[in-house]
Amino acid sequence: MKIRKAVILAGGSGTRLRPLTLATNKHLLPLYDRPVIYHAIEKLVDAGISRIMVVTSPEHIDSFVRALGSGEHWKLKSGNESQIQITYGIQNKPGGIAQGLYIARDYVGNEPCILYLGDNYIEDNLGPHLKNFKSGAMIFLKKVADPERFGVATLGKNGGVIRIEEKPKKPKSNLAVIGLYFYDNTVFEKMRDQKPSSRGEYEITYVNNKYLKEGALKAVVLKKKWTDIGTFDSLVETSHHVRKSAKKRR
Ligand code: G1P
Repeated sequence: MKIRKAVILAGGSGTRLRPLTLATNKHLLPLYDRPVIYHAIEKLVDAGISRIMVVTSPEHIDSFVRALGSGEHWKLKSGNESQIQITYGIQNKPGGIAQGLYIARDYVGNEPCILYLGDNYIEDNLGPHLKNFKSGAMIFLKKVADPERFGVATLGKNGGVIRIEEKPKKPKSNLAVIGLYFYDNTVFEKMRDQKPSSRGEYEITYVNNKYLKEGALKAVVLKKKWTDIGTFDSLVETSHHVRKSAKKRR
C-alpha cells in the first residue's frame, strides 16, 4: 500500500536550547528564513505526501496552528489531492517518540505511515525511498562523529542491520539512526507490550528492534546533509547551510 500520511513529532521541551525555547518550541525557531518545521513539511510535500499530522504539546499547539494553519501554504506539484491537509495531535507530556506516534494511531488507521522527527534537517529526496517501500519498516542511517547521542545501527556482512542500540555508551558503529521512519500498519501493535526505558521514554528503537526480529527492517544510508537541531551549534550551522541554498533558490 502506498504511503499517504505522515506524522511529524514536534513536542519536547528543548532544554538544550534554553533560553531560546523558554517562550517557544524549538521547531518554530528559524533556520535562516523559515521555521525549522517548514523544512520537514516541504520534504514530505515534495515527495507527494498530502496528509500530515503534527503532534506537539498543549503549550505550543496554538503557535503551530498560526505558523502552519491547515496547510494552505503548500501544494503538491502533481496528483489529485493537491491540497495539503495538516491536522494536529496533542502529547500532554513528553514520553518518547513511540508514545508521540501512538497519539496518531486513529489518524493513521489501517495505512502505512511516515514518522518524521520535526527537528531533523534532511536533504535527500524521500520520493525514491517511498517508491521502494513495500512493507515492514524502513529506517535511515547517517555516519556521525558522535554516535553515542543517537540510536546506533550495526550492519552485518551483507549490509543488513543486525543490531540497533539507543544511545549506547560504547557504540559499535558510527551509523546514527536518523529521525525518519517508514512503517507498515503493524507499527501500533508492536508498541502494545512496551515499557518506558531507563530514561522514562517509550523509545522508537524498541519498535525498530521488533521489526528487526521479524526480519522486516530495511536500512538506507542517506547521502546528503543531515543534522538534528538540538544544540546552538547545529542550529547556527544548519541556518548557514540553508542560507546558501536559499540564495540559489532565489
Ligand atoms: C531520537 C531517537 C534516536 C535518534 C534521534 C534522531 O533521539 O531516540 O534513536 O537517533 O532521535 O534525531 P532523541 O532526540 O530523543 O534524543
